[in-house]
Amino acid sequence: MKFAVFISILLLAATASWAAPIAATPDSEVQRVISPHITSPEQDDFWVKGSRQIVRWDTDKLDKESLNSNGLVVLGWSEPGSDNEHLDLENPLASNFSLAEGWIEVEVPEEVETRENYFIVLFGDSGNISPSFTIDQL
Ligand SMILES: *[C@@H]1O[C@H](CO)[C@@H](O)[C@H](O)[C@H]1NC(C)=O
Repeated sequence: MKFAVFISILLLAATASWAAPIAATPDSEVQRVISPHITSPEQDDFWVKGSRQIVRWDTDKLDKESLNSNGLVVLGWSEPGSDNEHLDLENPLASNFSLAEGWIEVEVPEEVETRENYFIVLFGDSGNISPSFTIDQL
């Protein structure tokens, strides 16, 4: 199976508070943005292609409504020295899981390029980006 077409997204801010609302909210509503902080993977972690890995996030700062929300994990990579981020939105690593759990097991795709600058984005209704890590063969 050929790996999915990556969608290129130009980030407004290169660091932690990556935010791209995936649903429009009517102006009259107060917008409450759920974007849980990712605690795993950590910087320079090594994921083996085809292995199973745990993604973790902080549930401490999530309010009751957020804890009833479901999440989405997607894989992405960045071009060194650029703000260009590529997110594989078509093949999420996990979707529709409860954010209250604080972790989800994902399967690392076999068919991805070897890179040292992968990251994951965890979406509530907005996304948080993890530190960068490597995906390679054993
Ligand atoms: C997502 O999960 C909820 C339960 O948390 C379920 O009711 C719903 O049908 C699921 N949606 C999809 C698209 O699988």
